[in-house]
Amino acid sequence: MIKKNSPIPIYYQLVELIQEEIENGNLKPGDALPSEREFSEKFQISRMTVRQALTLLENNGQLYRIQGKGTFVSEQKIEQHLLGLTSFTEDMTARGLKPSSHLLHFEIIPAGLQVANQLQIKEYDPVYEIKRIRLADDVPMALETNYISANLIKGLTEQIINQSIYAYMEEQLGLIIENATQTIESSIAEEKEADFLKIKSGAPVMLIQRNTFLQDGTPVELVKSIYRADRYKFTIQMRRKN
Ligand code: GLP
Repeated sequence: MIKKNSPIPIYYQLVELIQEEIENGNLKPGDALPSEREFSEKFQISRMTVRQALTLLENNGQLYRIQGKGTFVSEQKIEQHLLGLTSFTEDMTARGLKPSSHLLHFEIIPAGLQVANQLQIKEYDPVYEIKRIRLADDVPMALETNYISANLIKGLTEQIINQSIYAYMEEQLGLIIENATQTIESSIAEEKEADFLKIKSGAPVMLIQRNTFLQDGTPVELVKSIYRADRYKFTIQMRRKN
């Protein structure tokens, strides 16, 4: 299983072995891994080499250690493609996960200058301010704050917000959501955000801001989302231009 005379470093062979076990489901999230000593005896390799492999997997977020208890398999990250303009509800449903929301705040407020400018409305025009925890199979994934013009999107209710805002805009109001500009930055969870997301204060998160537009160019939402970095990763297909 581990080839001592292979050009591939031994620690890396062990990394790949463990990754394979995770991928084929022999090792499931929450499962404990054998100890360093057990690995070293089983494969006849040094504990230092085992440690090197486990550290790499820990840094990748695929394993986590609990002091005095051992090393365990992390939850798999949700892989999100960056090209499609999709809603949280669509993203989770496509993965066979049950989307839900926990509404923290829902109010119509007068738009501040910045929000008004971005939504291309007048200062003090009414906007919905919506704060939701977004969950997949009841696990908190993201914390989302939306600003939406109340004159444009009429009739938003708590019930709608607890389901899908995009579905309401498209299916009930017949609007065509066409494109968005999105930025992604790394950040760390503040205490309150960490509480809502059930992670440690100071844990890494991704701050995602989206400005979404309708087919005729009207801005339809401003969104600030905080996604758990331990549960999410983004992928994009790239093509070299030449
Ligand atoms: C994603 C986006 C948000 C968008 C939301 C709509 O989470 N980051 O910008 O507002 O989807 O989701 P839903 O239609 O499920 O309410």
